[in-house]
Amino acid sequence: MNNWKHNHILDLSTFSFEDYKTVLELTERFKDVHKSSSRKLPALQGLLITNLFFEPSTRTRSSFEIAAKRLSADVQNFSASTSSLSKGETPLDTILTYISMGADILVIRHESTNVPTELANYVDSNKINTSILNAGDGFHSHPSQGLLDLFTLAAYFNPDNPSPDNLLNKKITIVGDILHSRVARSNLWALTGCGANITLCGPKSLLPNEFGDFVLSPPPGQSVDPIQTRGSIYIERSLEKALRNADAVMTLRLQKERMKQNMLTDLDTYHQKYGLTHQSLKWCGKKVPVLHPGPVNRGIEISSQLVEDNSINLISNQVENGIPTRMALLYLLGLNKKSL
Ligand code: NCD
Repeated sequence: MNNWKHNHILDLSTFSFEDYKTVLELTERFKDVHKSSSRKLPALQGLLITNLFFEPSTRTRSSFEIAAKRLSADVQNFSASTSSLSKGETPLDTILTYISMGADILVIRHESTNVPTELANYVDSNKINTSILNAGDGFHSHPSQGLLDLFTLAAYFNPDNPSPDNLLNKKITIVGDILHSRVARSNLWALTGCGANITLCGPKSLLPNEFGDFVLSPPPGQSVDPIQTRGSIYIERSLEKALRNADAVMTLRLQKERMKQNMLTDLDTYHQKYGLTHQSLKWCGKKVPVLHPGPVNRGIEISSQLVEDNSINLISNQVENGIPTRMALLYLLGLNKKSL
């Protein structure tokens, strides 16, 4: 933990293998806190954690709230619909209001890519001691989801020791609307960072060929990739071939709210070609787990029967693991606060 260098968590392209190890170890430690007699730890007592969600959220917002409460922090929740945004205030002025109220950690979700990064630059250049935690910005990044998915897979492959080493040389297939998915991007950084090889599958309109190079060059402003050897990314248009020998499969919702125009002719054809069902999973050649970040659109990217089959899908594990993963992230950012 002494090596933890991040004052903000904006995306996973800056994460080293040690960072993944630290987060997964802490997640494992925090997993059973709610089963203790006090159900809480005093770790972040006195810190103010502000959840600012400018986009809808069920799982992420609630699990950040529970995570903060389990660490005894004070929690403040902002909801766009009941705020002064409806009176004409700009989102930036709203955010600055919460910073002025003394937010120690500001968890933010926004439909525009890079809002969390710009905010982090703003607080740093004004020497404000608020950490920014990106809870999803446009289609760019959703680091806490990438990390909880990493933990879920690491725990699936070895429940006694959910280490990032468990991902080495695993074949993970990600199917669906990759283009508009911040979850896919964060998973690409996390899973390749731990040595997994990723096969991406989807129609060209939702999965451009450029994704094959996604992790090859560090993003603008970052000169060196902190991971020395990453797993690779393959693009495979046929679901049958993409699933062959997979060790795990993740499917994603069609992000209609981010599509410029309707990018698919019809949803039935999409389901037939890319939908996960008990039948299509047979192409894996063995029993493999299915992940989905939620919210699920039954009968489109995944069949209803598969959503209800807890012997195959890890959807409830993902939701459950979201809480200790977010506890780990809040704890690590809280460590840097002067009040601790
Ligand atoms: C995802 C998101 O908001 O990016 N959901 C989540 O955080 N669990 C995926 C989605 O909306 O489809």
